[in-house]
Amino acid sequence: MLPVVDKPLIQYAVEEAVAAGVTELIFVTGRGKRAIEDHFDKSYEIERELQARGKAALLETVQGIKPAHVECIFVRQPEPLGLGHAVLCAQKIIGDEPFAVLLADDLIDADTPVLAQMLERFDHYHCSLVAVEDIERKHSRSYGVVTGRPWDEHVFRMSRIVEKPEPDDAPSTLGVVGRYVLMPGIFDHLRALRPAPREEWQLSDAIQSMLAAEQVLAYRYTGCRFDCGSKLGYLQATVDYALRHPELRDAFGAWLRERAAPVANLAAVDADDAGTAATASIAQTAVVE
Ligand code: G1P
Repeated sequence: MLPVVDKPLIQYAVEEAVAAGVTELIFVTGRGKRAIEDHFDKSYEIERELQARGKAALLETVQGIKPAHVECIFVRQPEPLGLGHAVLCAQKIIGDEPFAVLLADDLIDADTPVLAQMLERFDHYHCSLVAVEDIERKHSRSYGVVTGRPWDEHVFRMSRIVEKPEPDDAPSTLGVVGRYVLMPGIFDHLRALRPAPREEWQLSDAIQSMLAAEQVLAYRYTGCRFDCGSKLGYLQATVDYALRHPELRDAFGAWLRERAAPVANLAAVDADDAGTAATASIAQTAVVE
């Protein structure tokens, strides 16, 4: 389980879901992911020990991993056959209800957690919603890409979704990020997918098929996303969250300034040739990267 500063990535996704009012969490896990179950299990021994030693703050952290009113259910995906297949693995537990999908690799920092933003729209529109953001066309191979008609503030009525198109074939530059609210009708479209043996079952393909039967909206969320599935995104998330962590920000910030100074100075020297206006932005970029 990959941590960002002091919590595993999956914990951030759980906290986002719980903050949006979700009380039943289904984890679709696979080979080598038993640690997730252990992480969300009640730690009687640790809790007793912390209580005995009077470590109230730590005890609160441990007890907050899974709030008492939240139920966790674990389902195993027998083979890594893609996101669509993973969602299908949870069908029996979900039943005939709308549900949310969160991909923990997409860590999104937002004043109002993104799932809460989406559920607010869901309460209004009562249809499936997919979170999107503006991407660079050259990165289209990493995303589901959607097109649609502007419908409301930040909301598009989706007309097409394509999974990981080549830049030249991408129908737009609106990329899907790992947050979905889906009507249960999606299961019919998932079951009808016929990928070649061992190929992935794409959730995007099922959504494209569902578009013929029911409305799906794309929602341009407000927040800052880190793609922790990539090395760069993971590093950026770690630095960003560390710089906002109350116990770490001062010491880490001081270390980072010192560590990044040679890089920033180099960038400033380069930028001097190009003029002063560019210096500030290039130096800032160099520190972040
Ligand atoms: C999945 C989805 C893709 C989406 C992406 C967001 O891809 O298939 O449509 O844009 O998540 O992170 P993955 O990154 O799992 O390959």
